[in-house]
Amino acid sequence: MALLLLSILVALVYSAFGASMNAVKPITPTLNVPKEIQLDWSEYSPYFPLDEYRDVPGGCEIDQVNILQRHGARFPTTGANTNIKAALAKLLAVRHYTDPQLDFLRNFTDDLGSNDLVPFGAAQSYDAGIEAFQRYTHLITEENIPFVRASGSERVIVSAMNWTQGFSAASFHKYNPKLSVILDESLNDTLDDNMCPDAGSSDPQTNLWQSTFAPPITLLLNEGAPDANLTDTDTSSLISMCPFETVFKEQRSPFCDLFAPMPGAFPGFAYGGDLDKYYGTGYGQALGPVQGVGYVNELLARLTNSPVQDETQTNHTLDSDPTTFPLNRTIYADFTHDNQMIAIYSAMGLFRQATPPDPTKPSPTRNWRASSLVPFSGRMVVERLKCGSTPSVRILVNQQVQPLEFCGGDKNGVCTVNAFVKSQAYARNNGNGDFEKCFA
Ligand SMILES: *[C@@H]1O[C@H](CO)[C@@H](O)[C@H](O)[C@H]1NC(C)=O
Ligand SMILES: *[C@@H]1O[C@H](CO)[C@@H](O)[C@H](O)[C@H]1NC(C)=O
Ligand SMILES: *[C@@H]1O[C@H](CO)[C@@H](O)[C@H](O)[C@H]1NC(C)=O
Ligand SMILES: *[C@@H]1O[C@H](CO)[C@@H](O)[C@H](O)[C@H]1NC(C)=O
Ligand SMILES: *[C@@H]1O[C@H](CO)[C@@H](O)[C@H](O)[C@H]1NC(C)=O
Ligand SMILES: *[C@@H]1O[C@H](CO)[C@@H](O)[C@H](O)[C@H]1NC(C)=O
Repeated sequence: MALLLLSILVALVYSAFGASMNAVKPITPTLNVPKEIQLDWSEYSPYFPLDEYRDVPGGCEIDQVNILQRHGARFPTTGANTNIKAALAKLLAVRHYTDPQLDFLRNFTDDLGSNDLVPFGAAQSYDAGIEAFQRYTHLITEENIPFVRASGSERVIVSAMNWTQGFSAASFHKYNPKLSVILDESLNDTLDDNMCPDAGSSDPQTNLWQSTFAPPITLLLNEGAPDANLTDTDTSSLISMCPFETVFKEQRSPFCDLFAPMPGAFPGFAYGGDLDKYYGTGYGQALGPVQGVGYVNELLARLTNSPVQDETQTNHTLDSDPTTFPLNRTIYADFTHDNQMIAIYSAMGLFRQATPPDPTKPSPTRNWRASSLVPFSGRMVVERLKCGSTPSVRILVNQQVQPLEFCGGDKNGVCTVNAFVKSQAYARNNGNGDFEKCFA
């Protein structure tokens, strides 16, 4: 009996102690909205890994990691929030709702802010830092900790700092990376997409899609809220209240319950974001991919340990100084925006589409989905490998290994660094003249 008690005691002490010794746990709360609906939140979906993390193939080991990550969940941007507030004002002005699903509005306060990270988004970034430490511990030494940069928006800066805090916590504060470089968004900035004034917008495609999917939903809303006179744009804004309120309050928004039973509402909203990304800075925008070239050239510099060669968005002063662009680290983490990540994917050749997405008809089998490309806290990780003695590379987007068909990726998605560099001719040629067209 005494022996039994003793062994229980030992087990208890061990498990309590062991848990604190072993691993720092993630802190992002679970949202009580089904995952299928969260995946229809388009670029406002929270990050979900798309696959299990695959170990690198036998004979290979990782010797460098480049992380490119979107900021965590945020409030609507100023422009989106203006539209949301206009739509809400129309709805709230209605005296009598004929649809009881709208009754929640009788006692509704809109308390969404604008632009900034919400606590859920900070937690996502913190958790990403924990994961990076735990996954790549073997690349870290006291002299060699991650080198971190951020584009200069508040939400991006805070996400980067939360990532470093998570990283540091996971190492029990042994390794404390800092945010070393903040790139001013009004200057040369490879982590933002506003250096190409002549780039077009996705409005033609997204407006066409909105006028395709939204009218029946707008009609239902106007029937339930007589005289609200909602437009299709109002409908899209109101659907977006579901993700924005849910990630802010960490509690299912009543707007999710309002739209879930309306056929096509969430899938229609999701496709609007897919089109926006494709035609905004992706393959469907003539001057989209060129905005990713500067980052790709920085990546090539790191992969090959050689100076950055770029005549697009890089800041030569920063990139030629080893204190602001070192080449001797093993982990680099850069924090950015969704549209810029799309430009970078498209400059590199990731997710190239055989046919462009049709603005009136989504393909049910498409892999171009904003929720899997650039969710809140979404990430691309470029792992440099040494396979035998051959420098090689593989790329994970939201933890899914990419095929890298453009550089002869093998069945494990691995190609040589040489082949990868060759494949990046568009970037190495500074966008084949496209960058000049940004200012023509
Ligand atoms: C109205 O909302 C407030 C704050 O959300 C809540 O405290 C209150 O109980 C609600 N009142 C009714 C009648 O539902
Ligand atoms: C990288 O090089 C700098 C000098 O440019 C040096 O101070 C630093 O210790 C080096 N870091 C590593 C990890 O080798
Ligand atoms: C995120 O960073 C901000 C600013 O430093 C801080 O106030 C907040 O507590 C951090 N949150 C987490 C989860 O690290
Ligand atoms: C380059 O970066 C430096 C340091 O942040 C800054 O002073 C300078 O204005 C930047 N130049 C451009 C063109 O972005
Ligand atoms: C909606 O339109 C009708 C008819 O044009 C008008 O009488 C009503 O005042 C409008 N309602 C709102 C909230 O603007
Ligand atoms: C900023 O970018 C422009 C356009 O590529 C380039 O001409 C200029 O030299 C860059 N400035 C710096 C400091 O890198």
